[in-house]
Amino acid sequence: MNALAASLAAVIRRDGPITYSAFIEAALYDADHGFYETGGAAGRRGDFLTSPEVGPLYGAVVARALDSWWFDLGCPEEYPVVECGAGPGTLARSVLAARRELACGDALRYITVERCATQRLRHPDGVEARESFDLGPFTGVVFANELLDNLPFDLLEWRGGGWHDVLIDAAADDTFTEVLGDLVDNPSRPPTGTEGARLPLQPAVTAFLADALARLEHGHVVLVDYMSANTGFLDRSWPTWVRTYRGHERGGHPLDEPGTQDITCEVALDALLGVAAPREVSTQAEFLAAYGIDELVEEGRASWQAGAGIGDLAALRGRSRIREAEALCAADGLGGFTVMHWVR
Ligand SMILES: C[S@@+](CC[C@H](N)C(=O)[O-])C[C@H]1O[C@@H](n2cnc3c(N)ncnc32)[C@H](O)[C@@H]1O
Repeated sequence: MNALAASLAAVIRRDGPITYSAFIEAALYDADHGFYETGGAAGRRGDFLTSPEVGPLYGAVVARALDSWWFDLGCPEEYPVVECGAGPGTLARSVLAARRELACGDALRYITVERCATQRLRHPDGVEARESFDLGPFTGVVFANELLDNLPFDLLEWRGGGWHDVLIDAAADDTFTEVLGDLVDNPSRPPTGTEGARLPLQPAVTAFLADALARLEHGHVVLVDYMSANTGFLDRSWPTWVRTYRGHERGGHPLDEPGTQDITCEVALDALLGVAAPREVSTQAEFLAAYGIDELVEEGRASWQAGAGIGDLAALRGRSRIREAEALCAADGLGGFTVMHWVR
């Protein structure tokens, strides 16, 4: 029996249908039964592979970017870098491993923000692990990889000439079905749609960006995720942009078995652009190239060629960089992710 499904269904039967965001909040983050609290995670032994989990190369490039932004900020003596939605802390681990090669190494104060206690437990020594983003005003960096797609979102559906909330009802056997809610009067949505078309509504995403920018005196906010323009949502059926994952496979319908699968949504690029104009929007492949991934791969190749005969660890790490770069820059995969970069 799914205890989370039973308690959610009981609440719905008592109080009426709930929003998608309320369902996702419980399914992912319920303190006892939520997907992330019960061990769901990024990583090879987890449920899905993110860029930091491909290997240490991603963190080594991010470390170079951090150095460049430190110079940009005038080399402050203390340099807080806040990584939000840090998961098990793998990016932090890779950045700290590269610390000795960084000009900003002594100034760097690496803060991980992760709401799930089970994930925070795995954060490495040398970081300040926090449950929430409670810092500021400060001069530094806010960085998040694949956080935004995991923030609870709502769905709208076009029916009878208007956008309606999609709500969730419960059946007697503790399974869930969608029902159409009230007409939504939201001027930021496209004025028309085709019957049955869907759009995500992601107030938590725009609130996160507005909050991050407000916390910075000076600095950089860099958000990496799979993103889409409004037209990209309308052109495709919604299960292509609302996705579930479990054990490195696609999961079931988002309303199946809450707590047992990740539920994610592509991030609405237009909504982020509406919060503040970014300095730059690029693909992950372009971002990694700008901060020296090719140089790091060449170093790796040289070290493999020098040590291949002995097969020592440095040589093997060098060879691994070549494969990692291929995965991180693949246009139809991680390399096609969007990197949005704001400067304050
Ligand atoms: C898809 S995982 C990404 C983990 C990591 N950044 C990576 O790229 O491997 C998203 C993480 O964000 C965390 N998270 C979600 N909402 C959060 C919030 N409001 N504050 C901090 N962490 C949050 C989740 O618990 C989860 O660990």
